[in-house]
Amino acid sequence: MKYIYIKTWGCQMNEYDSSMIANLLEKEKKYLLTSLIEKANILILNTCSIREKAQEKLFHQLGRWRKIKNKNPEIIIAVGGCVAVQEGKNIFKRANYVDIIFGTQTLHKLPKMISEIEKNKKHTIDISFPKLEKFKYASKPIKTKYTEMVSIMEGCNKHCSFCIVPYTRGHELSRPCNDILFEISSLAKQGVREINLLGQNVNAYKSLTFDGRICSFSKLIRLVAKIDGIDRIRFITSHPVEFTDDIIEVYKDTPKLVSFLHLPVQSGSNKILKSMKRLYTVEDYKLIVKKLTIVRPNIQISSDFIVGFPGESEQDFQQTMNLIKDINFDMSFSFIYSRRPKTPASKMKDNIQIEEKKKRLYILQNRINMQTMLWSRKMFGSTQSILVEGVSNKNIMELFGRTENNRIVTFKGSPKMIGKFVNLKINKIHTHSLKGTLI
Ligand code: SAH
Ligand code: F3S
Repeated sequence: MKYIYIKTWGCQMNEYDSSMIANLLEKEKKYLLTSLIEKANILILNTCSIREKAQEKLFHQLGRWRKIKNKNPEIIIAVGGCVAVQEGKNIFKRANYVDIIFGTQTLHKLPKMISEIEKNKKHTIDISFPKLEKFKYASKPIKTKYTEMVSIMEGCNKHCSFCIVPYTRGHELSRPCNDILFEISSLAKQGVREINLLGQNVNAYKSLTFDGRICSFSKLIRLVAKIDGIDRIRFITSHPVEFTDDIIEVYKDTPKLVSFLHLPVQSGSNKILKSMKRLYTVEDYKLIVKKLTIVRPNIQISSDFIVGFPGESEQDFQQTMNLIKDINFDMSFSFIYSRRPKTPASKMKDNIQIEEKKKRLYILQNRINMQTMLWSRKMFGSTQSILVEGVSNKNIMELFGRTENNRIVTFKGSPKMIGKFVNLKINKIHTHSLKGTLI
C-alpha cells in the first residue's frame, strides 16, 4: 500500500477536484489517503493561480517538499491545478525533482502517470483539455459528509478582463444532467441532505434531458429538488449576466433552494464594470436583486469585490461603497486587484498606489463586517433550521451545523442528530457564528 498526501489551495472547485483525485486513486486499491505528510509516498499539490504571486508560492512549497525528497528519493511529487496549467514544463525547469505535472482537466490520468514514474520514467506531463473526460473516471461519489458539492459545469467563457480562470480551466462545458441527477440520487441514498451545485458560472449550465429536451440551470434545480432526501440546495458561483427570470422563478416555488445567494458584483462603478468586461451595469445588478426580493423577501446576498482595479478613482470606489450599503450585502469576499498573466487587464496601466489599495480594502471590509454583524443580530431570538454536520471542533460536548444563510451554529444535542435537520432558537451572536438551543 502506498500513501498519498494532497495539499489543496484555492476555491471549492479545487477542493472538489482533490476529492476526485482521492476517490480515483483509492479505487485503484494500491493507494490510501493520509493526512500525515511523514507517512506519504506520493505528494500531490493542487494549486490555485487566481491571485497573488502564485508561482512564488508554488516554488516555496516545492522547496519544502524537496527536503523530504532528498531524505527519501523514492517519494513522488505531482503538481496539478491552475498554476500547473499556467506554467507547464517550466515547473520541471525550476524544480527538476518534480515528477508529474497534471492539469485541471487531466487529473484522471494520474494513476497512469504515477505508474510511469514508478517504472522509472523521469518526468511526465499532461495539461491538455479533454472535454469533461475526468468525470467518466472519477465521479463515483463517495459520501464523506451530509452536505456535498456536485460539479455541474467546468470552465468559463466570460473572459472578465482581470481573470485567469478561462485560461486555466478552459471553455464552459456542462455535464449531462442525467449524470448529475444520478450522482445526487446516489448521494441522497447514502444520507446526504444538502447539495451545493458547483461551477465557475453555474447559470450558464445547459444540457439535454434523457428525452432530448433542453435542461437549463433553472430546470436542473427543479429536478434536483425532486430527489427524495435532498432538502437543501445551494449553488456557487452564478454570474449577473445570465441570472435570467426563469432562475428567479425557481426562488418563488422551490423552498429547498436557500434564501442566500452569492452573486459577485466586483464593483459599484459602471465605468469600472465596463473596463472589467463584466457585461452588466450597476442598475442591471440592482434589478436582479429587486426581483429576487419580491419573490423571496428574506433573501440575503453576498458578493465578491475587487478594489484598486486599474483606473479606479476615489469616486468609483465611493460608488462601490454606496452599492454595498444599498444592497446591504451579507458576508462577502474582497480582494486587491492582482495582475494576472495573459489577461487583458494586465496590459492596463495600474496607476493606484498600494497604500491606497490597502486603505480601500480596509474600509470596504470594515463596512461588510459591520453589515454581516447586523444580519446576524437580526437572527437573535429567531428559530432557524440547521443541518447538523457533526461534533463541534471547539467543544466536543456540542454539535454544529449551518443555517440557510451559512452561519455556523453550535448547540447541545445528541449525536443521533448528526445528518438531520433540527430547529434551534438562536440565543447568542458572534459575527460569523451563533449559538442556539433545541426547540
Ligand atoms: N466565476 C466567478 C469568479 C471566480 S474567481 C464570477 O462570476 O465572478 C473568484 C473571485 O476572485 C472573483 O469573483 C474576483 O472577485 C476575484 N478575482 C479574480 N481574479 C482576480 C484578480 N486578478 N485580482 C483580484 N481578484 C480577483
Ligand atoms: Fe473569471 Fe469572470 Fe469567469 S471572474 S471565472 S472570467 S465570470
